[in-house]
Amino acid sequence: MASIDLQPSKLGTKDHWNNVYQREVANFKETGDEGEVWFGEDSVEKMTKWTIAHAPPEMKPYILEVGSGNGTLLFSLLDAGYEPSRLAGIDYSPDAVKLARLIASSRRGEKISFAECNFLFDVPLPVGQQGSSIAGWNIVLDKGTYDAIALGEKDEVGRSPVEGYPGRVAQLLKKGGHFLITSCNFTEEELRASFATEETGMVYHSRVPHKTFSFGGQSGSEYATVAFQKIT
Ligand SMILES: C[S@@+](CC[C@H](N)C(=O)[O-])C[C@H]1O[C@@H](n2cnc3c(N)ncnc32)[C@H](O)[C@@H]1O
Repeated sequence: MASIDLQPSKLGTKDHWNNVYQREVANFKETGDEGEVWFGEDSVEKMTKWTIAHAPPEMKPYILEVGSGNGTLLFSLLDAGYEPSRLAGIDYSPDAVKLARLIASSRRGEKISFAECNFLFDVPLPVGQQGSSIAGWNIVLDKGTYDAIALGEKDEVGRSPVEGYPGRVAQLLKKGGHFLITSCNFTEEELRASFATEETGMVYHSRVPHKTFSFGGQSGSEYATVAFQKIT
C-alpha cells in the first residue's frame, strides 16, 4: 500500500456528508434540483463510456458504486441500457440514500438498489447473491469516495482509514471483474501503487484521459480515472 499522508479534513467525516445531503434532499423536494455532480458531467460521461466499452449492457453485469451520493453515475448507466436490478449504490450517509431513492422514483429507476452501508465495514452483495460462494460484482465504481475516505481521521498508530479500502474492493470483485476509480487526491501512479498489488490480486488495466494543464514546466490533469482488473 502506498503511503497516505493527506491531512484529515471535514470532507472525511460522516457529519459533513450528512449535512450536505440533508440540504440536497430539501433542495430536491423544493426545486427538483438533483444536487452536485462531483467532478462534473464530463467524468460521468467518461466513466459511463468506459463501462459500456468493457462490460456492455448486453453482458448484464452486476455494478456497484461505492459512495453513490445522489446516484448520478448509476442513473447515467440506467440511461445507457443497464439492467436496473443489477445496479446498486451504497453510501454511509442516510440522506444520500434518501436523495438517490427520491431521484430514482422521479426517473423510473426504482429498481436500482440504494442502501445505507459503510464500505469499510459492511459487505454489500448483489440482490440474491447473499450466501453464495460465487458472490461478487463485475464492476465496482468509485467517483470521489476513496478521496473522501482518505481525509478521515487516522487511528492511534497513524494509519489512514483508506488503507483498508483496496482490500475491500478486491474482496467484492468477481475474478475478471473491474474496478474503475476517478480521484482528485491521488495521481494515477499513486492509485496504481495502492490497488495493483499482490495482496489485492488486481492489476492495472487502463486509464481514461482527461484534459491536461501545464504549470511550471510540469503537465498533469486535475483528476485521474484508472481501471484495475482482478485476476486472482
Ligand atoms: C465526494 S462524494 C461523491 C459522491 C458520488 N460518488 C458522486 O460522484 O457524486 C463522496 C461520497 O462518499 C460517501 N462516503 C464517504 N465515506 C464512505 C464510506 N466509508 N462508506 C460509504 N460511503 C462513504 C459520502 O457520503 C459521499 O456521498
